Amino acid sequence: MDTKTISQLDRDSVLHPFTQLKDFASGKAGDPTIIETAKGIRIQDADGREYIDGFAGLYCVNIGYGRTEVADAISKQAHRLAYYHSYAAHTTDQLATLSSRLVKMAPGKMSKVFYGMSGSDANETNAKLVWYYNNLRGQPKKKKIISRHRGYHGCSVVSGSMTGMSFYHDHMDLPVSGILHTGAPHYYWGAEAGESELAFSQRRAEELEAMILREGPDTVGAFIAEPVLGTGGITPPPAGYWPAIQAVLKKYDVLLIADEVITGFGRTGSMFGCFKYDIEPDLITVAKGLTSAYVPLSASLVGEKVYKVMEEGADRVGAFSHGYTYSGHPLGVAAANAVLDIVEGENLPQKSAEIGGYFQEQLKSTFADLPIVGEVRGVGFMAAIEFVADRERKERFDATLKVGARVSKAARDRGLIARAMPHGDILGFAPPLVTTKGEVDEIVAIAHSAVRQVMDELTNK
Ligand SMILES: Cc1ncc(COP(=O)(O)O)c(C=O)c1O
Repeated sequence: MDTKTISQLDRDSVLHPFTQLKDFASGKAGDPTIIETAKGIRIQDADGREYIDGFAGLYCVNIGYGRTEVADAISKQAHRLAYYHSYAAHTTDQLATLSSRLVKMAPGKMSKVFYGMSGSDANETNAKLVWYYNNLRGQPKKKKIISRHRGYHGCSVVSGSMTGMSFYHDHMDLPVSGILHTGAPHYYWGAEAGESELAFSQRRAEELEAMILREGPDTVGAFIAEPVLGTGGITPPPAGYWPAIQAVLKKYDVLLIADEVITGFGRTGSMFGCFKYDIEPDLITVAKGLTSAYVPLSASLVGEKVYKVMEEGADRVGAFSHGYTYSGHPLGVAAANAVLDIVEGENLPQKSAEIGGYFQEQLKSTFADLPIVGEVRGVGFMAAIEFVADRERKERFDATLKVGARVSKAARDRGLIARAMPHGDILGFAPPLVTTKGEVDEIVAIAHSAVRQVMDELTNK
C-alpha cells in the first residue's frame, strides 16, 4: 500500500492519542508519520527517513528494537500455546517462572504478582487492592489515595485521577473523589529563595503530614509516587525526600505504591528506582520495560503485608474477584522472560549507570550554561533540559512561543526524537538502555544544534 493511501485511511479512521484532532483532520498538522522498521536505537519511516529514538518509544523499548531473541520467544509461545487464561488457578510454565523471578528481584517484601496490559490498568488494580485490603482488615474508611502534582500514573479513570496534571483531567470529569494531590518534589520550581534541598524535602513531607491530619489518618489508605518524576518533567527527587516522606507514611499507617512503570528494569542505573532511593514499597506498578514493549504487559506486585490480609480474608469474602481476560497472557509473559534474560545477561542497569552517567555529564557540559537553559537534570538514562526566558529570575517563556515543541521539532528535522514534555518547556530524553557512548555523542550533538537553532530564532525575533 502506498503512503498516500495509508495516510488517508489513517486520517479517516484512527483516533490518535494526544493529537490535536482538528489540525490532524484538516491536514494542517501534516500527514501521519508511518513507522515501518526499527533496529537498535533507530527507527525508519515509510519515506526511508531514519531517526535516533532518543525516547525509546515512550520510555519503554529499553533493550532496543529488533531483538530476535524476544521475537523468537513470542513466536515459539504462539506456536505452542497462544492463549489460555489464568483464572481459577490456571497457569503456564512461563507465567509461573516470570512471577517467581519478579517476586525475587523486586524491592520491598513482595509476595504475589497480578498481571494487566498497561501501566494505567496496573495502577487501577493497585488502587483496588488498597481498598480491598482496608475493607478486609476492618478499616472501611481508610480509602483516600494521595498522589502528587506533576505525577503521571496513566489515563484510565482512577489512574488518570492520580495523575497530577490538570490537562489530563480537563473536560474528562477527573479527578474522581477520594484522590488527592500534594506538592511536587520539584526543587527547581518549588523551592523558596535560599531553601536547601533538604529543607525543601522536609517541607514537602510536612505538607503531606498536614494533608493526612486534615483529612483524618483513618481515611487515608495510600500514597502513590514515581521514584523519579517522569512525564511531569523527568525530575530526580531532591536530597532527603524519600526518607522524609516514608517516615510520614509509616507514622500514619499509609501504604506506599511505587509506580516503577518508567524506572523499573534499569532506567535509573539500578534494577528498580526503589533500590536507588531506598524506598520500601507495599505495592509496585511495572509495565513498559517489563517486556520492553515487544508486547503489552503490566504487573501489580503485591507486598506480603497486603497479601496476607487478602489471604486471611478469603474464608469470609470468597474468591478474589478481579481479573482480565488477558491477565498473565502467555505471549506477554514469554516476552517478559526473554526480555529479563537480556536485561540481566547484559547487565543493563549497570550500563544505564555508566553510559547513562556519561550522558548526564555530556548534557550538563553542553547545555547548562546556555542562556535559555534553566536546568539540566536526570539520572541514568532519563534526562531533561528545561528552557526558561530568564535564568536569574527563573521566568518561563510565554507559552505561545512553544519553545519546547520547537526544539523537539528542530531535533526531529535533524533525525533525533527527543520529547517535548507536556508540563513546561522541557526537552526529554530516555533512550534505550543499550545506547552506546558513540550514540550518546550523536544524540547530544544533534540536540545541541536543534537548541542553537531555536535560541537564534528567539534572539533574532
Ligand atoms: C509512571 C507511569 N505510570 C503509569 C503510566 C501509564 O502507563 P500506560 O500508558 O501503559 O497505561 C505511565 C506511562 O507513561 C507512566 O509513565
